[in-house]
Amino acid sequence: MEYVVGIDLGTSSLKGILVNPEGSILATASASYAVETTQVGYSEQHPEIWIEATKKVITQLIQEVPTILDYLVGISFSGQMHSLVLLNQENQPLRKAILWNDVRTTSQCERVMSEFGEELLAITKNRALEGFTLPKLLWVKENEPEIWQQAAHFLLPKDYLGFWLTGKQHMDYSDAAGTLLLDVVQQQWSMEIADQFAIPAKLFPKLVASNEKIGELRTELATEFGFKQRISVFAGGADNACGALGAGIIAEGVGMCSIGTSGVFLSYEASGEKEYQGQLHIFNHTVTDSFYSMGVTLSAGHSLTWFKETFAENQSYEELLTGIEDLPIGSAGLLFTPYIVGERTPYVDSQIRGSFIGIDTNHTKKHFAKAVLEGITFSLKDSQQLMEMYANRQFKRIVSVGGGAKNAAWLQMQADIFNATIMTLTAEEGPAMGAAMLAAMGSGWFSSFEACAAAFVSYQKEYQPIAANVAAYQKVYSSYQKVYPATKIVVDN
Ligand code: XUL
Repeated sequence: MEYVVGIDLGTSSLKGILVNPEGSILATASASYAVETTQVGYSEQHPEIWIEATKKVITQLIQEVPTILDYLVGISFSGQMHSLVLLNQENQPLRKAILWNDVRTTSQCERVMSEFGEELLAITKNRALEGFTLPKLLWVKENEPEIWQQAAHFLLPKDYLGFWLTGKQHMDYSDAAGTLLLDVVQQQWSMEIADQFAIPAKLFPKLVASNEKIGELRTELATEFGFKQRISVFAGGADNACGALGAGIIAEGVGMCSIGTSGVFLSYEASGEKEYQGQLHIFNHTVTDSFYSMGVTLSAGHSLTWFKETFAENQSYEELLTGIEDLPIGSAGLLFTPYIVGERTPYVDSQIRGSFIGIDTNHTKKHFAKAVLEGITFSLKDSQQLMEMYANRQFKRIVSVGGGAKNAAWLQMQADIFNATIMTLTAEEGPAMGAAMLAAMGSGWFSSFEACAAAFVSYQKEYQPIAANVAAYQKVYSSYQKVYPATKIVVDN
């Protein structure tokens, strides 16, 4: 008997799942924590809270399945991307971590793009966005020189957790890709970028593959938890990459649509040599020597939550959405653009705002709710279309995960708008499943990611596109695409 644990270090909670070699989930545990927003646009967490949460989660897993004290062999992670952890010479955090959704770095991004934009795009395949790590490093350097002078190492959240567990500092390629300091294709730190912005080489951790062993659980911790055996710790990966791995996105042609607060449309790429001109992200995958491209809708589930809380606070989501499938496609002429906090893909526009267009006296609250779901899905279709256009991809099958996979009418809508078969997962554990798969691969349970996915990932339901709906949605989508340039003029005035 052997077990592995996959830990997902998220923005609002840390989740752990215990899995056996058949891919069965034997226990799950989670612990939540807060995000500190001391100023508008700031978003921070002290790394200590991730450690406290990990202790709680491991303790809960032991309580649920005491035999793991003898049979746990491996641990790996998925982590929130981009968030900066700065350590001093003694490996102590110098300040709170600056998180991925902290947007204080607009002027640093502008400088990076104006001084070095083309080179950055060629090397990292991404443009500078407020959330990414390089602008955060520059912000600390410019605004907190006394902290910058003491900086000896930088890590991302899951790497800090790996360091606490093992005493060793590493970063895997999938998370390093989100720092804007990695040469994504060569899979090495870009000294060209580091030199350009005077980031000292001593700060960079050693790069490793996501399923590579970074060390063993420290003896003090093993004793504290009561483990008797040696436990290997594997590097882990970025949450989006682990989410994709956990959904079985390990070959070209299958996409993933993930709708949480934000939304992601993601595609596996065998090569990182794609030229999306920064309109889509390209990052290294957790699967050896492979990549994924990704578009982001900033307010996906958030648009629906906002709509419900503002206009239907006394209704449940179920009540609000019951019967939307009976309304006409395109919500009888009502269009919604989900740009309520700006938009990332394809516009990278923090100033644009959302809109309802075509309001008519016959529209009911349900029409509005359906228009919100359609607008969110159209926004993700924008990313799908960029991938189809630039990479000549055809998505015949798309795995839908998150909030968008919980409503049958929305799943059918995704099939009709994406014009692809939509699949749902049997057991949806999100990025924690990808983390468990990395621990399973690292522990030598499988000889390939394909074999691991065959044991760990299974699909439950399929939704097929309906030809008449696909044609009708194509027309509505072309109207939707006209809304951004038209409302941009209004917002700019
Ligand atoms: C990706 C991104 C988010 C974070 C959330 O670029 O900013 O999806 O990974 O943790």
